[in-house]
Amino acid sequence: MKELIKELTEAYGPSGREDSVRDTLKCMVEPYADEIDVDKMGNLIVRKEGPGKKIMVAAHMDELGLMVTFIDENGFLRFSNIGGISPYILLGERVVFHNGVKGTIGCEKLDNIKDLKLSKMYIDIGFSDKKEAEGKVKIGDVAVYQRSFSDLGGRILAKALDDRVGCAVLVQTLKELEKPANDIYFVFTVQEEVGVRGARTSAYKINPDLGLAVDVTRTGDTPESETMAVSLGKGPTVKVKDTLIITHPKVKKLMVDTAEKNNISYQLEVLERGGTDSGAIHLTREGVPSGVMSIPCRYIHTPSEMVDFGDVQEGVKLLKNILHKKVT
Ligand code: CO
Ligand code: ZN
Repeated sequence: MKELIKELTEAYGPSGREDSVRDTLKCMVEPYADEIDVDKMGNLIVRKEGPGKKIMVAAHMDELGLMVTFIDENGFLRFSNIGGISPYILLGERVVFHNGVKGTIGCEKLDNIKDLKLSKMYIDIGFSDKKEAEGKVKIGDVAVYQRSFSDLGGRILAKALDDRVGCAVLVQTLKELEKPANDIYFVFTVQEEVGVRGARTSAYKINPDLGLAVDVTRTGDTPESETMAVSLGKGPTVKVKDTLIITHPKVKKLMVDTAEKNNISYQLEVLERGGTDSGAIHLTREGVPSGVMSIPCRYIHTPSEMVDFGDVQEGVKLLKNILHKKVT
């Protein structure tokens, strides 16, 4: 499964440009799916047929990016952010475009580091004039972090674990699902990082009886971190609340009961800032009881996100057991 995570995190796929990561996922799920569909927005919908209620399980394919807004006379690229990127983590960072063009990030002279903003930064792709640069990169092209996957043993470091680790959990669960008691729709969504957009339209199309998102969440277990009752290595979380959802009591109970009955370690999660695809799913049509299973993750939205591999494995176990249980 680490191979799955490596391949997925190293794929290119900022919000709105998910085609390449979607192709990778399609190859992975093809042997196990009963039906595969790509909808009008680009969501990849993978059905595993069962007799019961419709369950939608969503993980987003997209990652953060930097979109080129302006190319100056000397070939430097100004950019805007796709998703929540802090300027501080960009200093010295390398990025790569869809066509393989690479660059580094520099900034203007600053008297005080507190004045650092994205508008004072640029991407340098190694050319000295506008014409040359324009031959490689156009206005509106998007770069992502250039980082490879690192296996630290028990833990994993990679870019885009938010939310390719969620995608990997879905793929692995699909592989291990035998005869599900429910009708399962695994949805690999587009454009979560810019406002849960793909989940909104795919949930409307599927019209599920129950919704689940699988995504990452923050932790409170690093030096002087914000207070939060989630740690790496203590299992996946059952979300209780975030900015976009209060988990439906029925779904929370289903998740907690399933974890306890099967001796799967889990943590209860209250996330004070942030949301996931379930925020959109639960407000679909007349409402869909929904929840979230999160994989605890440190350094979210940086090029080096960290998760515990044990949490990922427990996450697969929990999701598999939920889907095997007949939902009423
Ligand atoms: Co995110
Ligand atoms: Zn996410």
